[in-house]
Amino acid sequence: MSRRRRVYEGKAKVLYEGPEPGTLIQHFKDDATAFDATKRATIEGKGVLNNRISEFIFTRLNEIGVPTHFIRSLNMREQLIREVEIIPCEVVVRNVAAGSLSKRLGIEEGTMLPRSIIEFYYKNDELHDPMVSEEHITAFGWATPQEIDDMMALALRINDFLTGLFLGVGIRLVDFKVEFGRLYEGDMVRVVLADEISPDCCRLWDIRTNDKLDKDRFRRDMGGLVEAYQEVARRLGVLVENEPKRRGGPTLVK
Ligand code: TMP
Ligand code: ASP
Repeated sequence: MSRRRRVYEGKAKVLYEGPEPGTLIQHFKDDATAFDATKRATIEGKGVLNNRISEFIFTRLNEIGVPTHFIRSLNMREQLIREVEIIPCEVVVRNVAAGSLSKRLGIEEGTMLPRSIIEFYYKNDELHDPMVSEEHITAFGWATPQEIDDMMALALRINDFLTGLFLGVGIRLVDFKVEFGRLYEGDMVRVVLADEISPDCCRLWDIRTNDKLDKDRFRRDMGGLVEAYQEVARRLGVLVENEPKRRGGPTLVK
């Protein structure tokens, strides 16, 4: 296991060389960071929960024809993925005002937005992931206009799907961040969803109580992060407890 070649190590995940060319193993760590890693902690169990939740979501997205890097689950912390070239733009979709949007524009957290809003951030820790426009992205060659169109169309499909999925289990999808990659297949290149979708990169509020079931519990020192992620996993039907239980998918909350 330790002899596998490490291809990349990020803040919450490690990528190892995969069993075949063009594949990688994505390993979820227990590390949590916020504010450009100025705040750090190790939260036991977070990696396993994020792996489970992300694998469930990516499988469902593959099923509805959203192309992703996900191939299959390997174990509690690892999944087999296709190797892609990550496009250095974080794509944020917002449905409800929160976080940096509330701060920047003075809109109270929890205010429903008139429509879903897409934002782009340049993925560069040294520069603190600054917000950028499509003009910056094309002028500096981070992505082509066609790739931006593809990312926006996919981000909106993901938003519609996830909004419904979470609403069915009593959770409001406030906002989320996704990353895309270029998948090279012979002469063809296409944009596919990469990275992860988990409570680390979404804002998820309980529909009735507005309780935060996401990484804001860590960013804002609220505690109870693992319990919140477990609750998300439980509602999605993917929580694996000691005794094997039903893993049949989401439970409708009435
Ligand atoms: P923000 O309100 O801080 O801009 O965050 C918007 C969404 O993006 C929120 O769901 C958290 C997620 N996000 C990340 O996944 N990684 C990041 O580095 C940041 C800043 C936000
Ligand atoms: N990913 C960011 C960091 O590590 C934090 C965040 O999600 O707010 O700094």
